[in-house]
Amino acid sequence: MKNVTVIAHPLVQHHLTRVRDHRTEPEEFRRLLGEIVSLMIYEATRSLRVKRMAVRTPLERTTGSTLEREIVLVPVLRAGLGMLNPILEIIPHARVGFIGLKREETTLQAQFYHQSLPQQLGRCEVILIDPMLATGGSAAAALDFLCEEGAEHIRLVCLVAAPEGIAHVRKKHGSLPIFTAAIDRCLNRSGYILPGLGDAGDRLFGT
Ligand code: PRP
Ligand code: URA
Repeated sequence: MKNVTVIAHPLVQHHLTRVRDHRTEPEEFRRLLGEIVSLMIYEATRSLRVKRMAVRTPLERTTGSTLEREIVLVPVLRAGLGMLNPILEIIPHARVGFIGLKREETTLQAQFYHQSLPQQLGRCEVILIDPMLATGGSAAAALDFLCEEGAEHIRLVCLVAAPEGIAHVRKKHGSLPIFTAAIDRCLNRSGYILPGLGDAGDRLFGT
């Protein structure tokens, strides 16, 4: 699929299988999600633009490179929070925004309940993070909102995506880069990803 990168690294897939396992308890789930995201973020940031800059070592002047744009991480609450700290470990200078969305259980429509974003999003590389891309309603709502707030450079990192969710996001955000550890088979009637991993927020937080 165009602009969708499935991160097939053996360690990512090894941990993902354990995350899918229904016996994996929240403590272990959180730890494994962190390990997966730490590996995924290298791939998801590979195309970040850099600019050349001069640097003086203790011995002489040379040139190096630095990120062209500031990075803003935007977890979709709640489950996106499970991906935040592992990424901050790797990109500690990133700023962080939050989008709170809850999928209504019967209509599967995503309802906003919170947002706080840094200023001047247009100048930043925005990394939207949410483990699950199911119907795509939440991601599409978050992306629409980020665009309304001026974001121009956005990428989405998730753990498991359904084909339906990718297609939905693609309708409006055709060239958005999407990084995922897996594209699963389909959604069930309740909008859950099959085989998936269940409710990511509940499994992360033990609710
Ligand atoms: C989950 C998940 C996504 C959304 C995906 O969140 O973290 O945000 O569902 O489903 P969609 O693609 O069909 O919109 P949920 O709304 O369950 O909230 P939670 O993170 O608080 O559990
Ligand atoms: N949200 C989840 O947490 N899991 C799914 O399978 C679908 C939506």
